Amino acid sequence: MRVISTESSQILAARLAGELGCSLVDVRFSRFPDGELYLRAGQLDERTVVVGSVTSNDDLVQLLLLLDACRESSCTLAVPYMGYARQDKQFHPGEPLSARAIARALSTVAEEVITVNIHEESVLDHFTIPARNISLAEDVGEYLKAMGLADPLVLAPDEGAARFGKAVAQSGRWDADHLQKTRHSGEEVTMKPKSLCAEGRTVVIVDDIISTGGTLATAAGMLADQGARSIHAVCVHGVLSGGAYTHLRAAGILDVACSDTIERGCSCYSAAKRLAAEITA
Ligand code: R5P
Repeated sequence: MRVISTESSQILAARLAGELGCSLVDVRFSRFPDGELYLRAGQLDERTVVVGSVTSNDDLVQLLLLLDACRESSCTLAVPYMGYARQDKQFHPGEPLSARAIARALSTVAEEVITVNIHEESVLDHFTIPARNISLAEDVGEYLKAMGLADPLVLAPDEGAARFGKAVAQSGRWDADHLQKTRHSGEEVTMKPKSLCAEGRTVVIVDDIISTGGTLATAAGMLADQGARSIHAVCVHGVLSGGAYTHLRAAGILDVACSDTIERGCSCYSAAKRLAAEITA
């Protein structure tokens, strides 16, 4: 077995190969003069794990090219971050179901696909090959333990993320809750923990994705007003668009961490171990 990856998932792929005890396939990436992507894969094995997060359109094309280059091998596809998964419904007439379009495009060559904390598990149904999703909630919990925070309050930013927050908190038997929005007027909205009190607590806000950071920055400001001692943020997928990292730090969040499903300077824990376990299960 060998592991091969797109350019944007090289580090995770190397960690995964380490966990699986196998080697990496060397791939050379370049562009044609007109800007089209080109790649050339080295020696493949009978079985290949193809790793590629879709964080941009180029990532997607590179992943499709990589799959085609691996067509003579028996492939497992790992898509650690699946972009476009958030457009999983048709919200307005004329819109595509983007998650379906991407899932179908990726259902080629590989015999199975594994995603990580996909936005909605129902998106898996759009793949035409067997698809399953793993959660890094336990890994977030392990990361929090390593941070050595004393008795943190784990907060999900909304009810939708509450299950993830509870799973994270379970690792350390910490308190868990989720934020609830109360609308006081057209413009005035407050956010506070649904059942617990943030006053004097070390708060860790956990979510699957930090995109613009808007949700977490607003929450952080309100938690500070409610007397939280310190506020930290950990997510799985650090999309971090539009200056989100700075936005969050400027909002008073002491540290912002994500996994390596999207490789960032603040990728503090890895999806490799859990992916390896799933691949060999
Ligand atoms: C939403 O359902 C997700 O779980 C995240 O809460 C959302 O994507 C975060 O977006 P932003 O960082 O732009 O507030």
